[in-house]
Amino acid sequence: MNSTTIGQLIFDKIDALARISENPDNLTRLSLSPEHQRANALVGEWMQQAGMQIRTDAVGNIIGRCEGSEPGPALMLGSHLDTVRDGGRYDGMLGVVVPIVCMQVLHSRGETLRYPVEIVGFSDEEGVRFPSTLHGSKAIAGTLDADTLQDTDADGISIAEALVSFGQDPQQLHSAKRQPDEFFGFVELHIEQGPVLEKENLPIGVVSAIAGASRYQISVTGKAGHAGTVPMNLRQDALTGASECIVAIEAICGSLSDVVGTVGQIKAAPGAGNVIPGAVELSLDLRSSEDATRKHAEQQILSTFDAVAERRGLTITTHCRHQASSVTCDEQLCSQLATAIQTSGYRPLTLSSGAGHDAMAIAALTPMAMLFVRCKDGLSHHPDESMTREDAAAAADVLLNFLRQINAGT
Ligand code: GLV
Ligand code: MN
Ligand code: MN
Repeated sequence: MNSTTIGQLIFDKIDALARISENPDNLTRLSLSPEHQRANALVGEWMQQAGMQIRTDAVGNIIGRCEGSEPGPALMLGSHLDTVRDGGRYDGMLGVVVPIVCMQVLHSRGETLRYPVEIVGFSDEEGVRFPSTLHGSKAIAGTLDADTLQDTDADGISIAEALVSFGQDPQQLHSAKRQPDEFFGFVELHIEQGPVLEKENLPIGVVSAIAGASRYQISVTGKAGHAGTVPMNLRQDALTGASECIVAIEAICGSLSDVVGTVGQIKAAPGAGNVIPGAVELSLDLRSSEDATRKHAEQQILSTFDAVAERRGLTITTHCRHQASSVTCDEQLCSQLATAIQTSGYRPLTLSSGAGHDAMAIAALTPMAMLFVRCKDGLSHHPDESMTREDAAAAADVLLNFLRQINAGT
């Protein structure tokens, strides 16, 4: 198989996965949905064609395993199969498809590795359907709290109920947990979702660290009333209070370096044009590569909420739905990946990740590292997310070099 064929093979699989969506006009595939079930089935077929044994674990991860010629710990590869709403086709999927194609290349050449390889299509990384996130990777690392299974989606369906519809037994959640001695490392390949590689004119790079993140669900409660009869100075308008909070988040994050804050969801009730909004729900997503900076921003934001609530006669409650510390990638794996990049003929640039990844949760189980692949205009979480077949083939080449280097003990 030459690199053009490999690039095409990767793109054919990416395209096939992109057709599995809850909406025919865009790509939306939420965790534990019927579309997720179909994606797992397709990925499972590909894994089998690449000579792997497959299974779905208790949290809905699809796992393929290829035994090595010698017993011992395995290398885990993979990324997520869920998407944001109206998302791109490479975020997550590239990190499942490229490893499968690499295993297929080795299988078709009759090349056996000394060590076992597992590829995981993680069940939830985006945290779109449920308020919590990283369910698949946390369950494998043994850090998913069983209480999280009571989190509900917008239709009131809990993760536990969704797992039952998915054919899994939520009581068996613990069985998804793996032991540290089962693995010697995890490598996640992912599109960069940023502009650095494009600017440096490089197809691929090594990730040094992943930024930490906090996610909050915020409820602002005021008093609904008639839009025509309640004078402005007697209102407890939850939406204007929420607006003030949103602008304060922007100002606080803008005043600090290396922290970003986003309110991406807002819901006002009762939601009529002639009624003062009495209740508002909003999300908050905060990220920084420095945990102390993120905590500092968080404190400033929460105390601003208190001040807004007091001044406007509102009640503002906050519920933390996700906290992840920033994590540093494993030095040895990073240096092995850098060597693999050099073997492929590229300069091994190191860059950091502002986005969250399954690798942050797997870091609690085994040493982890990541490869970033160039994407067009650094655009992601967007239907125009794009990359080239050539870069996909370059990513497969680097991963194959890495697998072979480790096999040779270098
Ligand atoms: C996942 O893509 C995230 O970083 O939110
Ligand atoms: Mn992703
Ligand atoms: Mn994403």
